[in-house]
Order: sequence, then structure tokens, then C-alpha cells
Amino acid sequence: MRLPGLIDPHVHFREPGATHKEDWDSGTAAALAGGFTLVLAMPNTQPPVVGQASLDLALRAAGPKARCDYAQYLGAGPANASEAARLSGGAAGLKLYLDQTYGPLRLDQMGLWQEHFAAWPKSRPLVAHAEGRTMAAAILMAALYDRPLHLAHVSTREEILLIRAAKEKGIPVTCEVTPHHLFLCDADLPHLGPGRGEVRPRLAAPADRDALWQNLDVIDCFASDHAPHTLAEKDAPNPPPGFPGLESALPLYLTAVSEGRLTIEDIVARCVTNPQRIFNLAPQPETWIEIDPAYRGEIRAGNTFTRCAWTPFEGYPVRGRLVRGVLRGREAYRDGEVLSAPGAGRNVRQTPIVCGGEEPSRPAPRAEER
Ligand code: NCD
Ligand code: ZN
Ligand code: ZN
Repeated sequence: MRLPGLIDPHVHFREPGATHKEDWDSGTAAALAGGFTLVLAMPNTQPPVVGQASLDLALRAAGPKARCDYAQYLGAGPANASEAARLSGGAAGLKLYLDQTYGPLRLDQMGLWQEHFAAWPKSRPLVAHAEGRTMAAAILMAALYDRPLHLAHVSTREEILLIRAAKEKGIPVTCEVTPHHLFLCDADLPHLGPGRGEVRPRLAAPADRDALWQNLDVIDCFASDHAPHTLAEKDAPNPPPGFPGLESALPLYLTAVSEGRLTIEDIVARCVTNPQRIFNLAPQPETWIEIDPAYRGEIRAGNTFTRCAWTPFEGYPVRGRLVRGVLRGREAYRDGEVLSAPGAGRNVRQTPIVCGGEEPSRPAPRAEER
């Protein structure tokens, strides 16, 4: 069965700064092995992507290494609202970190949120990490500034019901849910162990997980929030929060299809057409994946491409897998092998450099007339 190439609007690659966890090569290989042909990379790198210099640094790393298509987010910092807005056309979107999580980007003061809500263009994607009451405040901002806001990794019953109510009022919010909040819960923490179970938002109660499934119509996108950290880091004191997710997401969704909890159309809406609409992404020409819905197996970290080399879904029985992937007419993945070369991926926000703005209204003079 063929589907369009999937889009993941929320991944963390660790380049620049922590390539022992993941770089643009290993991260985009993991994406293709998971059926994702386009990924949007978060800005909480070292240094964080907050302006021209750090955006150039990230894109210079991505260019020769990326094996699938991509774009890079900018992060909202305490003093970059106008610079970020100026760079908006070259970025996936702007990410606001409004609660505690991994990395240095966190905006506590509401006045700073307002600067970004006011400056960032309404036509460009704005994404918030905002949990619980913070989410309620962020939704109010979206209403007051009348601008679209995408809420990352919704994890609880109260949050999904809040988003339903906001949508019913006509507030321009959209949201995403991760596979780990759909398929795991706090009852999995004892077997994961304290470090490996750390993730933001935390794994929630079974009733929260069930509420996400019951409110599937409110969920616009699925996003892996692929957040690789090594096992050495996860098992040490002060473990960083985050789970890898690119390579386990599709088999989990296909398993839900086999159980009658999702349809293939639900997957395509949340992994292709809704992300295209919300994040202003053009369809990728001649880009598709082939899946085998009948396959039975288990999720194993042993045969993955992510550099972090573990998964919170180790041993999870799944039904369905990726067989093949084609990116812009070229075979990019087949039967466990990533065939797309480093550098084959394109920055989908690359705008041609326009000198002097508008097209000249009359033909340019020929060379000898100048
Ligand atoms: C993410 C990371 O490691 O970058 N961690 C996580 O637990 N989700 C950051 C984030 O998405 O909040
Ligand atoms: Zn987050
Ligand atoms: Zn994240």
C-alpha cells in the first residue's frame, strides 16, 4: 500500500552542539527509516537557533548532511523578536518554550511572549511548548492577537478539552500529539526506569492517554518529538528528558489501524495534509512510501539509525512496517537500508536570493548597451 511521504513537524537533531546524540545525517536517516520525508527541526541546539548567525550555523551543518527534506525552527529568546520576524521566511516557524524542558530556551515573562506574538508574521507558523495552565495562557494570547498558534505535544485530558473548547470558540489554535503520549502512560514508568522514563510533558495517567484517543478529532497532527539522548545520559544523575521517536511512530500508528483505533486516512491527515496546511509546506513531488500492513514484529532499538541507540518501546509488538520510500523520484529507503545520500535533502524554506526586490518592468539592457 502506498501513502504520501510523511511529515514530522517536531524533531530534535542535536547539531550544532551535541552530535554524539544525533546529527543531521543520523537524524534524517532515522526519519527516512520511519517513513518521514520532511522534518521540521527544533531550535534548542547548542548554540540555540535564535538569529542570523545561529540559523546559518544550523543550515550550514544541515546542507551537506540531510538525507530528507527539512526546515529549521527559530527559538524565541528574550531579545530577538524583531530579528526572528525578519528571518521568518527562512525558518520552519518560531518556537516558544513557555515551560521547563531540555535546553536554555525558556520564556518566563509574559511580556516577552507578547513581544513575539506581536512581531512574528501571522502567516508564519508559531508553535508553543505550553503545558496545563501555561497552555491556557498561550491560547488566550492567540485569541488576543488573533493569530494562529500550534500547541506542541498535548498530553492530558484537561489540555485536549481546553483545545476543543478554544476551537469551538473560533480561536485559531491547532495541536499535535506524540506517539508516546498515545501509546504509553505513567504505568509504564516502573519498567522504563527513572531516567529512561523522563520526558516533557511527562507520561500521564491512563485516563489522560484515553482522553487523547477519545478526542482524536481535535488532534490536527501526530509529531514524534524525536528527542534523542544517549543511554549513558538517560541512566546518569539528572537525566535529560526526551524519547527518540522517528523510527517507532509509523509501526505504532499502523498497529492502531490493525486494531481499528485509527484509519489510514487518519494517519495521512495528521502526518501529511494537516501539517502541510498548518506549516505552509508544499507537497513534495514524486514522494511516497510503501507500507506492509500485514507485517508482525516488535520494536527493537538494535536496527535503528538514530545515534541514541535506544527506544522506550523496546519489545513492543507491532503490526505493519515501512517497506520502501521515494523522495522526489529517487529511492530513499528499502528494506532496512537508507539509500538517500547525505546532502540529498532540501531545505524547504530556502528562498532564492532576490537582488533589488521586484522584477524590472522593462527588459534589462543587453550587455553592449550598458
Ligand atoms: C525535548 C528535547 O530533549 O529537546 N525533550 C522532551 O522531553 N520532549 C524538548 C521538548 O520537546 O520539550
Ligand atoms: Zn517541548
Ligand atoms: Zn520537542
